[in-house]
Amino acid sequence: MSELKVLFATSEMAPLIKTGGLADVSGALPAALRALGVDVRVLLPGYTPVLAQMSQHEVVATFDDLPGFPPARLLVGDTATDVPLLVLDCPELYQRAGGPYQDTGGHDWADNARRFALLSRVAAILASGESPLPWRVDILHCNDWQTGLAPAHLNLWHSGTPSVMTIHNMAFQGVFSAHTLEDLHLPPSSFGIDGVEYYGNLSFLKAGLYYADHITTVSPNYANEIQYEALGFGLQGLLTQRSEDLTGILNGIDTEEWNPADDDYLAKTYSTARMTGKAANKQALQQRMGLSVDADVPLLGVISRFTYQKGLDLLLEIAPRLVELPVQLVMLGSGEAGMQDAARALAVRYPGRIAAHIGYSEALSHQIEAGADMFVMPSRFEPCGLNQLYSQRYGTPPIVHATGGLADSVTDCTAETLKDGSASGFVFSGMTADNLYATILRAVGVYRDEKQWKALRKNCMGKDFSWQRSAEAYIDVYRKVLER
Ligand code: ADP
Ligand code: GLC
Repeated sequence: MSELKVLFATSEMAPLIKTGGLADVSGALPAALRALGVDVRVLLPGYTPVLAQMSQHEVVATFDDLPGFPPARLLVGDTATDVPLLVLDCPELYQRAGGPYQDTGGHDWADNARRFALLSRVAAILASGESPLPWRVDILHCNDWQTGLAPAHLNLWHSGTPSVMTIHNMAFQGVFSAHTLEDLHLPPSSFGIDGVEYYGNLSFLKAGLYYADHITTVSPNYANEIQYEALGFGLQGLLTQRSEDLTGILNGIDTEEWNPADDDYLAKTYSTARMTGKAANKQALQQRMGLSVDADVPLLGVISRFTYQKGLDLLLEIAPRLVELPVQLVMLGSGEAGMQDAARALAVRYPGRIAAHIGYSEALSHQIEAGADMFVMPSRFEPCGLNQLYSQRYGTPPIVHATGGLADSVTDCTAETLKDGSASGFVFSGMTADNLYATILRAVGVYRDEKQWKALRKNCMGKDFSWQRSAEAYIDVYRKVLER
């Protein structure tokens, strides 16, 4: 087969614009696909920071009369990424202060339906025979609800090009009231159970899941979990019906960006062959975060959105018991005000033992991965999760709840798994504070056994989480879809 041409549509992409793991995936998967010979190009909205990081752009297409949308243009230009980018410039919808989905106060933009309907619409046009570009697309690859209407448009208005829809998180679905339908150029006939309707509303994600030729999600375990009520967020019926067309592919990580042997953010680099540098990072982290400098006390790290999904409420609840063990705790993240306040209050109550940085910091996130002894990720649900992968690569065994991609990527440390060399962290079932506490206690026990701890760290660092394997699995999906 000749070179595959894939249009990868996404609403965020590292390093240009990031709110979470989707950006990491969009920054790395297309590059990995290109390394395997796929001609993939990324379609991304022209948010203010994206345009600011783009030099010498050229307009390659204009969309002046899409019904219901302001004029838009497609730009190509130079950015920090090696993957060819198609930037959708529409100042009225994308150029503003704030994030990709929310204003500076943390409220969803009121016109999100329109903003991402335009992204979806343009993705469908570029993938269709009516594309203004000479480049012909074989597969349209969409990601999350923001691009969910694209497979619907391809099916309803165009024909031919198959689409793949990747679910990064079922908890975000892009649900808007039914009357949005006409504004978005969707035919009334599409508003039904066999279409874009979801309990009387319009759902962008459901549209994608219904119309895409194939669905993927970011771990095999999550692909199974979303077919049941507990984690299907109302779409388990559709997903069960489509289970033949649903594949779970574990995310990889960018092993250049996340490499303890070559990481400019670190006080000292290190590798399995030369682990001494890890202690220097622990000391630097303790200093930076105002914790007592103590090589001996286990230091737990957290980097997370502070939301219900991530289960940090359990950790905050047991924090007073943890400091008694003793352990130290460093937290980086932002999100729900209640959790932010609780984290800050703990830092005030336990100076030198608990530290919290409320906000976003790329540098500190690398320093925590390297400087902490263990990484805590008690997510209630987790489609894939990236930090438990980064932490393994940095020799910082993760402590995780047995859900989604966490269960797929961390092997619980037992006498047996230590012996066969597969142990790579600590896994607990049953989402309670006591279970989390007992698991941290268990981890501290292993930490106190130098030989076991060294073996565990070595296993972690030896695991292969590179993107190549996952990219190959995506190529299999593309081929399968094209053969149909
Ligand atoms: P999710 O996308 O659900 O938030 P993931 O684990 O897939 O979870 O990805 C989160 C990504 O965002 C990781 O790269 C993580 O390091 C990063 N991240 C989250 N919060 C912060 C923060 N406050 N500062 C820096 N990086 C963060
Ligand atoms: C979502 C999920 C996370 C996953 C990421 C990238 O943000 O919450 O688990 O790792 O997407 O696929």
